[in-house]
Amino acid sequence: MVEMDWGKKNRLTSLLPGGRCFFLPIDHGYFLGPTRNLVKPGETIAPLVEYCDALFCTRGVLRSAIDPVGSLPIILRISGCTSIVGRTLTDEALTTSIEEIIRLNVSAVGISVFIGSEHEHQTLHNLVTAVNMCQDYGIPVMAVTAVGKELAKRDARYLALCCRICAELGADVVKTYWCEDFDKVVDGCPVPVVMAGGPKVETNREVLEFVHDGIQRGAVGINLGRNVWQNQYPVPMAKALRAIVHDDVDVDVAAKIFEDAKNG
Ligand code: 5RP
Repeated sequence: MVEMDWGKKNRLTSLLPGGRCFFLPIDHGYFLGPTRNLVKPGETIAPLVEYCDALFCTRGVLRSAIDPVGSLPIILRISGCTSIVGRTLTDEALTTSIEEIIRLNVSAVGISVFIGSEHEHQTLHNLVTAVNMCQDYGIPVMAVTAVGKELAKRDARYLALCCRICAELGADVVKTYWCEDFDKVVDGCPVPVVMAGGPKVETNREVLEFVHDGIQRGAVGINLGRNVWQNQYPVPMAKALRAIVHDDVDVDVAAKIFEDAKNG
């Protein structure tokens, strides 16, 4: 196996301390506008950053809401140009030049691909274009296996296919949804897999359970947004999730961490 370049290895290990990660995505505004509890991203993240390893955001939010002094590592979203009120979410383009990526000193970039959609080829081509431009500078690429409005697509067979294709095309990390039989997704993917959350689920325990299950089945961590910052108690949820990801606690212990933080 070829030794990874120093710069890329340094960036990846800052994102994955001890091989695990809790990324906090606040990129949703790039197609959803001012989403609930993310109207002012700087205020949303202020109490949460101490529990997270990196932020996932666009350059607009980065420059306007995040202090460059003492910031967490940044994963920069570099695909977009669609909206929730438009015809489709899948018609994405690359939004950011390599010069801008370097200027912002980010630790990685993130790009959505929409496999099985009418824009499969275009969005996979966005991924390879980003891999080619970032590879020269040692900047890791995180592929995001997005489903647009078709949330029902989230099963192991489909997600395993998506993750494998992203890795084959050169992604360094793949972010996908948790699903039943998540080990089938991880086993077929030769690069680290991170779980996204999707829309907020009904109960707190459900979040802890699916995150715990995914970690047990081989995910290296989470990239969870709405199930953290749309929770009634975002800080207790962040503490509980951190304990599952980094300390390997079980669901009961995590639930106790949540309750203790909530009550005191
Ligand atoms: C949105 C994204 C988000 O980063 C991703 O979906 C994770 O956020 P959530 O847990 O809220 O689904 O890529 O475009």
